[in-house]
Amino acid sequence: MIRAFDTMTLPLLRLLDPEVAHRLAVNGLRVLPLTQAPASDPLLAIRAFGLNFPNPVGIGAGFDKNAEAADGLLRLGFGFVEVGTLTPKPQGGNPRPRLFRLEADEAVINRMGFNNDGAEAALRRLAARASHGGIVGVNIGANKDSSDRVADYVNLIDMMAPVASYFTVNISSPNTPGLRNLQNATELDDLLARVTEARDRARARAGDTPLLLKIAPDLTLSELDDVVQIVRARRIDGMIVSNTTLMRPPSLRDRATAREAGGLSGRPLFGLSTRMVAETFVRAEGAFPLVGVGGIDSGGAALTKIRAGATLIQIYSGLIYKGLGLVEAIKADLASTLRRTNRASLTEIVGADAATITAEPWPV
Ligand SMILES: Cc1cc2nc3c(=O)[nH]c(=O)nc-3n(C[C@H](O)[C@H](O)[C@H](O)COP(=O)(O)O)c2cc1C
Repeated sequence: MIRAFDTMTLPLLRLLDPEVAHRLAVNGLRVLPLTQAPASDPLLAIRAFGLNFPNPVGIGAGFDKNAEAADGLLRLGFGFVEVGTLTPKPQGGNPRPRLFRLEADEAVINRMGFNNDGAEAALRRLAARASHGGIVGVNIGANKDSSDRVADYVNLIDMMAPVASYFTVNISSPNTPGLRNLQNATELDDLLARVTEARDRARARAGDTPLLLKIAPDLTLSELDDVVQIVRARRIDGMIVSNTTLMRPPSLRDRATAREAGGLSGRPLFGLSTRMVAETFVRAEGAFPLVGVGGIDSGGAALTKIRAGATLIQIYSGLIYKGLGLVEAIKADLASTLRRTNRASLTEIVGADAATITAEPWPV
């Protein structure tokens, strides 16, 4: 059914303005009576940061910014959903147009700027569906006009812990001026000290809520050294690698659209983000698991990301070009690879290629 839906809707959606197409997709997932995807193959079940995932394929942050479609996305067969980025106060984001497709490159550039309905609206929606179960993570950020960005993250954790399966501290969006500075060692250490305090404070009310840090793929390796060292010292539960890139690889074919300001995602991000997964994996030395995201658009790409060091993966731009059927296609490919190679779980191959990948020439 999903395949037929993709065949009918993908060419039409691609004729529309990207933001209109996105709104239609979210509304569709919210209101259409979707049938539940078949139960995930038990081989794909995987445990990470204290949570049991039915399969490792999640939807990346930014698709369901306002927590409107978590149930629809879970019914599609995703093993987990990440909503947000949410900020404490609602905000409109950057002026339109702010979302661009690079069709020839199967890529996207966005400079949305954390447009969202604010934390209270999302809290209400998540509370209303809480009894439905499923893993729903909450990606948190700071308001553009905030005078105390760290306090924004802390307040969001205090407020949303009862409805969040996990939190992602997003300091890697390129579209809020200055936000990425929170990745610098001193600022990061202070931020992580404060958010872990909030996580620990929430434990009595909401149980354990793992805290993940999402980074940009554009960090230098010495910046990554610092980030991983601080994440380990502050006992953050995991990292998401990576957000969109400010780079514009020379291979891009849609040169005109490539000049738009914003973060690039989709296929051209795959090499860089996978390299950063491997670089993070070798530095983490097993201290915490990684979520690999960036340019995954097939079962083969998902497998490469896992072998680079990702315990879980997320997809976003690939859905725009490959359709919703991508979720089941990736799951089927991963399960058949495990069967063919006689493995009982994906954990056996997580990071298997990390050392090799870090020895390769830097991807361009
Ligand atoms: C339109 C759009 C909006 C996004 N918004 C967010 C966001 O609000 N927060 C966030 O952490 N990442 C956001 N992302 C980044 C994605 O979650 C993901 O990290 C990135 O797109 C790379 O994955 P992909 O190549 O599969 O798209 C956004 C991406 C796109 C394309």
